[in-house]
Amino acid sequence: MSNSFLTDDASWKSIVDYYNQNGSKINIYKLFQQDPYRFDKFSLTINTPEGNILLDYSKNRINEDILKLLLNLAKSRNVEAIRDDMFCGSKINFTENRAVLHIALRSKCGKPIYVDGVDVMPKINAVLQHMKEFTEEILSQKWRGFTGKPITDIINIGIGGSDLGPLMVTEALKPYSKGLKVHFVSNVDGTHLVETLKKVDPETALFIIASKTFTTQETLTNATSAKLWFLDKAKDFKTVAKHFVALSTNETKVTEFGIDKANMFEFWDWVGGRYSLWSAIGLSISLYIGFDNFIKLQEGAYFMDQHFLNTPLEKNAPVLLALLGIWYHNFYGAETHALLPYDQYMHRFAAYFQQGDMESNGKYVTRSGRRVEYTTGPIVWGEPGTNGQHAFYQLIHQGTRLVPADFIIPVETQNPIQDALHHKILLANFLAQTEALMKGKTEEEATKELKSSGLDDQTLKKILPHKVFEGNRPTNSIVVPKISPFILGVLIALYEQKIFTQGVIWDINSFDQWGVELGKQLAKVIEPELQNNEPVSSHDSSTNGLINFIKQSRKQ
Ligand code: F6P
Repeated sequence: MSNSFLTDDASWKSIVDYYNQNGSKINIYKLFQQDPYRFDKFSLTINTPEGNILLDYSKNRINEDILKLLLNLAKSRNVEAIRDDMFCGSKINFTENRAVLHIALRSKCGKPIYVDGVDVMPKINAVLQHMKEFTEEILSQKWRGFTGKPITDIINIGIGGSDLGPLMVTEALKPYSKGLKVHFVSNVDGTHLVETLKKVDPETALFIIASKTFTTQETLTNATSAKLWFLDKAKDFKTVAKHFVALSTNETKVTEFGIDKANMFEFWDWVGGRYSLWSAIGLSISLYIGFDNFIKLQEGAYFMDQHFLNTPLEKNAPVLLALLGIWYHNFYGAETHALLPYDQYMHRFAAYFQQGDMESNGKYVTRSGRRVEYTTGPIVWGEPGTNGQHAFYQLIHQGTRLVPADFIIPVETQNPIQDALHHKILLANFLAQTEALMKGKTEEEATKELKSSGLDDQTLKKILPHKVFEGNRPTNSIVVPKISPFILGVLIALYEQKIFTQGVIWDINSFDQWGVELGKQLAKVIEPELQNNEPVSSHDSSTNGLINFIKQSRKQ
């Protein structure tokens, strides 16, 4: 592990110097004009068994010099060594004394991976077998509800990592559905459960209670209400076994809740919540797209893990994405990063990586316990194209902030209607946006355009500044063959490993989330105070004021 403080590292200082001298001078479009081979130099193709993936990172404010310095930084910060530690089962999540082994869940090489001297692979494979058998029983309609009817609807009750991953993947892989309807209830706002229950029938519903800890207030409250709703119709407690299963690390709490141990799909504390879709938390995925497709998703992630492990840093896709992010966030002061999939099925991808990235790298304390003196995790956001174009792209094009963005698109659509006309339009917009963001529009071009529309000189002068785009807005383009289970697995692991790499460089622990706990603790204090209408005075005056306002308003 690197011991020096990041900003004291010579490789960091070289980037600071380079940025101070050149940062404001780098113009992406000019670099293209100077170098006809720029695309070849700053793009890479990953050959997968399901076709080639292209990562084009040439539309960035980079040249060979800065890329070299960034790669030196990755080397100097021991990215490779810490990566290897993760893959070997070392307890790199040291604040929780845990290994970080979501990579083991999708490992397909047949080799053992040890934690505390014990190979974890046999346990992983046993749970996979359980998931396979259960999926087959449900899909073949052998598993029946309490009145003998087959299961038609699955309702995943979970939150955060126990919700966002399966939700994102089942949406992204809708064309692979085996026919069950899938619903997700996460919010403790009763509306979420009530509106979902309106769509399902207790005789044919299967509730999946997904919670690593099985102590999360939102999930347990929703699960209890779902159980009450179910029992109201089914009457007999014994029937719960046919309609409730649990995905968890906590057998005691699962059985206390009333779910049979046989209906629990286990995973382990070395699986972080936001990295858990590869574990039993993926049961709703397996039920929705079939177990074989779930394995294909894992195989895609395993493929990317191998790329991450075995490819030199200069050709390593997650490492390059990570370094580009560092360049913008730490040097150009970019605060956010946009994920823009041009695929409607991937509409939850940005939301998924909002947790993946922000819960992982939203930390201000280094591994040695010192406060950082640089920014860490970016604000991650995004929406599918082309919708985003008509909502927030204006700010990316002409706003005052720098918003680095990743554009993602499949070459092949799942829905080639009108001879794939829709997809051609989608592709054209995908290509046009990154070109426009990079090139912008010069004063000369804008003048010519305005003149040809017949404007008089005075009006032209007035309007001209609004029509000029500076350009030089950086983007990555990721082109995949098709959003299949395998390719989606590759993409998810690509971003997971990018997040890992950035966490290593920022010298933070990407695998705990203590910051989320404080709010949870305080909610537990406030909740009993809301049981009556007596005024409170134990908090700050704002919190007291809010609580007392709610209490008074409830009375009326
Ligand atoms: O929001 C904090 C968090 O601990 C996430 O990391 C996790 O994904 C989520 O809560 C749900 O936790 P659990 O799966 O234990 O219910």
